[in-house]
Amino acid sequence: MAEFEGKTVLITGGGSGMGLATAQRLVAEGANVVLAGRSPERLATAAKTLDADDRVLTVPADVSRVADLDRLHDETRRRFGRLHGVFANAGIAQFARGAEVSEADFDHVVGVNFKGVYFTVQKSLPLLEDGSSIVVNGSWLAHRGMAFTSVYAAAKAAVINLTRTLAADLGPRGIRVNAISPGYIVTEMFEGIATTEEAREACRGNVALGRLGAAEDVADAALFLLSSRASYVTGQEIAVDGGLTTSIPL
Ligand SMILES: NC(=O)c1ccc[n+]([C@@H]2O[C@H](COP(=O)([O-])OP(=O)(O)OC[C@H]3O[C@@H](n4cnc5c(N)ncnc54)[C@H](OP(=O)(O)O)[C@@H]3O)[C@@H](O)[C@H]2O)c1
Repeated sequence: MAEFEGKTVLITGGGSGMGLATAQRLVAEGANVVLAGRSPERLATAAKTLDADDRVLTVPADVSRVADLDRLHDETRRRFGRLHGVFANAGIAQFARGAEVSEADFDHVVGVNFKGVYFTVQKSLPLLEDGSSIVVNGSWLAHRGMAFTSVYAAAKAAVINLTRTLAADLGPRGIRVNAISPGYIVTEMFEGIATTEEAREACRGNVALGRLGAAEDVADAALFLLSSRASYVTGQEIAVDGGLTTSIPL
């Protein structure tokens, strides 16, 4: 029997990029998936790509709104009953120098990237089977200071830190909580930031492996952490960054 046969995994930001790539892997391994994101059109296209009929539930929801998360979890319970995994992956990148960050910018980035992850996890707890796995999506930027990214990077550091306390909190139920910290991964988000070939080449030049990452590189790590092969791994962070944060290519 395939690892994920009959299991249900919730993926926020599941309509594109790393979330969708993870959903594709999970569906191929027999899982049901619940995809959440703001845009119904994006979710509909993702469901079409997955082509797995009633094994896919899409729920338009903004993770920064707790009322949306309540509705997301209600719809998940009605369709699938229980959850066996959560990939709290939805995130936004909004960059500005510290002096230029407004209160609204701050609330928006923290609202999606930290509050959104926090309450995605909290609201999933009544649905999660004991022994399930939670994975949150962090960032290499939690480990290296880069101008323009103060709020984003601090919010990502917060969710990585959260995995350690939640691992302790949820350990008695056998629920594992881990983080992935992607490096430069070619998705809509990355292409919106590194808009020129020059910019992408500059990014590539910082990566020990000499290439930009793909969403599937992150999906592979997410599947490992969601699976029983990681059954003794909790409170950890896996960098999927080609060596960006640890090694200097010369
Ligand atoms: N790409 C990189 O190089 C990189 C590096 C480090 C970390 N990350 C992190 O990786 C995660 C996935 O990003 P990605 O690169 O795969 O980019 P992406 O394709 O832009 O995916 C982000 C997803 O999040 C959803 N989303 C955004 N705001 C949301 C909200 N308020 N509520 C619900 N869903 C929301 C988006 O859908 P809607 O717009 O329809 O809501 C989208 O599907 C993010 O947390 C990002 O911060 C990315």
